[in-house]
Amino acid sequence: MNKEKPIGIFDSGIGGLTVARAVKDLLPNESIIYFGDTAHLPYGDKSAAAIQSYTVKICDLLLKQQCKVILIACNSASSAAYQLAKEYVGSKAKVINVIDPVISYLGEKFENKTIGLIGTKRTVRSNVYQKKLDKLNKNIQLRSLATPLLAPMIEEGYFDNTISEHIIQSYISDPTLQGIEALVLGCTHYPLIKKQIAGFYNEKTEVIDSSNIVASYLKNYLNKNNLNRESGVNYNKFFVSDYTHSFAEATRIFFKEEVNLEYYPLWE
Ligand code: DGL
Repeated sequence: MNKEKPIGIFDSGIGGLTVARAVKDLLPNESIIYFGDTAHLPYGDKSAAAIQSYTVKICDLLLKQQCKVILIACNSASSAAYQLAKEYVGSKAKVINVIDPVISYLGEKFENKTIGLIGTKRTVRSNVYQKKLDKLNKNIQLRSLATPLLAPMIEEGYFDNTISEHIIQSYISDPTLQGIEALVLGCTHYPLIKKQIAGFYNEKTEVIDSSNIVASYLKNYLNKNNLNRESGVNYNKFFVSDYTHSFAEATRIFFKEEVNLEYYPLWE
């Protein structure tokens, strides 16, 4: 594998740009190819079989772009299609998901503790976090709640206002999430409401956002395998499978800068 090659990142839409942002901040010399499958958004309500078929096609595209790493910047796709993607891609690229780095973090910091998880229906119903935590054997109890209103709410620009405050409050007050010592934000849209959620807990419960944890994991992987780009001119490309003006506008919210979204007709 060649260190000059780009890092491929994909999500169901533009939420994964929070992960792309963290990667760009930590690894500014890397080139990024981002693919948002906006034609199939939201993945959180789709079957595992549907997400697997989308994932294979997206991996094909990212391999065609010669990506050295494919980062699944979506919890729903990480829970439904990571194993398949890993087998499909084989030695052509390293496949990284957004769940395993968080599991390692939890294993280091929360042995014998009870933690909460919020995410899409697909992620929560897959039980993937619990299964991976059980494998760690660190006696970490997980309490999970599907919070399907949050991703569309954020995409519509409702965060840090009274409407989002009410919706967040009603989810966080759910009996399932009581008595936890940390809350995992198991959806790549949620970093945008991290501050509001942390405010609700009054800083007493750690709110864990996967984007920085995943970016550090990626950095370690690149360093260990001598695949990190140290200098030179790089490039970033942002593709979506369905282009609308509102997606283009929302990139600013998630990536914290305006990006040029290009329509890529993957499904035609
Ligand atoms: N960004 C996706 C995730 O992390 C959620 C959005 C969706 O349902 O497509 O699961």
